[in-house]
Amino acid sequence: MTKINLDTTSLFMPEVLADPFAYYQAAIAERPVMVLPGTNITLVSSYDLVAEATGRVEDFSSDFSDLLAGQRSADPEVTAELEKGWPQRNTLLTADPPVHTRFRKLVNLAFSMKRVDAIEAEIRAIVERLVDAFPADGRIDFVRDFAIPLPVAVIASQIGIGEADGSISPEGIATVKRWSDAFADRLGGMISKERELECAREVVEFQHAMKARIDARREHRTEDLLSDLVHATVEGERPLDDAELLSVLQQLMVAGNETTTSTLAGGVLLFIQNPGEEAKVRADPALIPNMVEEMLRLESPSAGLWRIVKRDTELGGVTVPGNSMMMLRYAAANRDPAKFEDPDRFDAARKNARSHLAFGRGIHMCVGNMLSRKELAVAFGVLLQKVKSFELAPGAEIVHTPNMLLRGLRRLDVVVERA
Ligand code: HEM
Repeated sequence: MTKINLDTTSLFMPEVLADPFAYYQAAIAERPVMVLPGTNITLVSSYDLVAEATGRVEDFSSDFSDLLAGQRSADPEVTAELEKGWPQRNTLLTADPPVHTRFRKLVNLAFSMKRVDAIEAEIRAIVERLVDAFPADGRIDFVRDFAIPLPVAVIASQIGIGEADGSISPEGIATVKRWSDAFADRLGGMISKERELECAREVVEFQHAMKARIDARREHRTEDLLSDLVHATVEGERPLDDAELLSVLQQLMVAGNETTTSTLAGGVLLFIQNPGEEAKVRADPALIPNMVEEMLRLESPSAGLWRIVKRDTELGGVTVPGNSMMMLRYAAANRDPAKFEDPDRFDAARKNARSHLAFGRGIHMCVGNMLSRKELAVAFGVLLQKVKSFELAPGAEIVHTPNMLLRGLRRLDVVVERA
């Protein structure tokens, strides 16, 4: 690895975002809590300090909604577009207690293990359908042909975008992907004004489409997550209203899609780069759940998330000023050599793989973690059964989409040999 000078190199340079691992190691070793030069952003990179910061919610607030609202949220054209829909509410990701506590309780009710288990058969059916549709010559873009449609189809069906029989059409998948991309681009993308306007239109389209489905479930309860959410109540509290439901739904859609897609695609690339580990798991499929944890650790698709520092304080002996921004870099923490031996190595049987922070920790720990773990385990189980080998297609380029918060492969051209 090249030596990184932390004074002259910024994490947010496109070339560093594309290959951040040497930067992470330098940050962890030299300045695990560091104000990024020329900014008011404190980057936290070591495992222990990222974990500590997630627990100090009174010091480090999650109310970073202004940061997510898009770079041009005050632009009159963008605002005019957004006013055609419902206002954004701070519900889960961007709420602090006690507001967060109420939403989390309600959403936890809907996101039960029972619901996730009930979805398992559906996940398996979608996975098998996708693998069976791989073309005879085996040349696919794994991102486009598998890693995107799987999580999109699962969440689409749960939020009522699918057909009556539970299937989802290619058009339905494309629509949900389009909406999800619009939210994700507003979140951390580096986008033009035209794209920002287009994203605002997508947000409003999503809201109107979902509002119709919310009303239908208020009338008539169905067997899906959306119904569970619409009808969720905890003692003494009113159910979620429209704007709250829409905000929760958009988070479920966005948070689950890009991230699961990136883990699936990154996981296949890990197979290709580590044939010995792939062989080990093929020989012992009981390793799959642990391997999934190891993939989550190395991929950390939700690479970093914001916190707002509420008051002058310190972390790891470093003074952190109030009213500044903090980035918890989960992707760095997951490669901290003090926690994970030989951290850049993919070891499907790694003993402490599951202690990764890819889902965060504390009160904001990913509400969808059970669902995505299930999707990943089922997907890799079926893939290893139905596909004999994965190879990079000749001339395939490994390119990650530039984004400050999310990390994932743009495409993955592979040749698969069916079993
Ligand atoms: C591999 C897949 C996934 C990864 C890596 C991931 C990662 C994360 C992380 C790191 C957080 C913590 C945020 C913070 O610290 O501020 C989080 C929260 C969240 N995730 Fe996930 N996630 C994944 C899948 C999903 C899925 C499938 C869903 C829903 C269908 C989901 C919904 C959410 C929501 C709503 C939150 C906010 C929870 C709260 O603030 O209480 N995620 N996720």
